[in-house]
Amino acid sequence: MSLFNKLIIVTLPLVPKFLVYIFAKKYIAGPDLEDAVKLITEFNSKGICATIDLLGEEIKNREEALQVVASYREVLATIVAHKLDSNISIKPTHLGLKIDKEFCYQNIRDLVLEAKKNNNFVRIDMEDHTCTSDTIDVYLRLHKDFQNVGVVIQSYLRRTIDDLNLLIRHKSNLRLCKGIYAETREIAYKDPEIINYNFVYSLEKLLASGCYVGIATHDEKIVWQALSLIDKLKLKKDEYEFQMLLGVDEQLRNIIVSAGHRLRVYVPFGKKWYVYSVRRLKENPNIARNVIKNIFGLK
Ligand code: FDA
Repeated sequence: MSLFNKLIIVTLPLVPKFLVYIFAKKYIAGPDLEDAVKLITEFNSKGICATIDLLGEEIKNREEALQVVASYREVLATIVAHKLDSNISIKPTHLGLKIDKEFCYQNIRDLVLEAKKNNNFVRIDMEDHTCTSDTIDVYLRLHKDFQNVGVVIQSYLRRTIDDLNLLIRHKSNLRLCKGIYAETREIAYKDPEIINYNFVYSLEKLLASGCYVGIATHDEKIVWQALSLIDKLKLKKDEYEFQMLLGVDEQLRNIIVSAGHRLRVYVPFGKKWYVYSVRRLKENPNIARNVIKNIFGLK
């Protein structure tokens, strides 16, 4: 680990909350659902769609998980009420995966069913490697009954090629990203170049097999490779989409949208922004490195 990253981990608990907020606010809509609605209304007017994420840590008991289900129901109702072009992204541990897998499955199923009533969609985010198999199991069970659900696959994981073969057989709807959690070398590739090769290899496999892919990256080299694959495979605009995180490289976002591609922004909101931001920064201090690089315009 670099000295910079060690410094971030050691000093983070000492940083006052308002200072963390200065870093975090660019990446978070705000504490309330209305904050997300305001932002997404603006995105939609520019032809950009969204996915809403309710911030939260792994929950401690079933009541908390059910509260999360209720909050997401409110998000779905709000999307309808405001006619937003947005779906939702959920995290299995937020809905009880570590308490009871069956309970988590039922909670996600409730949301998928609720979303289906209004033609909406639920994306199941992928968390650290201890959740991968269970998340894919839950997704494949849901996928048997529903079309409006998708999952995420991470190109840094060594197991990803095997997972892809399974998911492609089921014609899955996938978001492909590099992966954000701190994993060991046994579990994940550490070399950024290999992670990129695996991203592009996975993307080609998925697109060529007719799976709908959310291409989730801000890495312009990968965006270019994706564009060349889209061209090579003669894909129509509704057979894939690009996805980016709120607050990251808005210039690249505008370039992709202006070229006529569908682009979805991941919009997190919620009162638990502090715990979320600190955990994310501790787990992966490279985020803070990216933030600092962006603020000072370094390459
Ligand atoms: P890379 O990390 O190489 O970044 C490329 C460039 O983008 C950097 O040089 C930097 O300038 C900029 N950048 C990237 N991230 C930044 C940040 N946070 N702040 C400021 N600048 C930044 N992961 C996961 O494990 N499970 C998941 O479910 C998801 N879901 C998800 C949804 C969406 C829509 C996106 C875009 C990403 C995710 N991720 C994720 C996160 C993903 O795995 C990955 O960590 C980040 O997207 C960064 O990887 P890039 O592909 O952007 O490349």
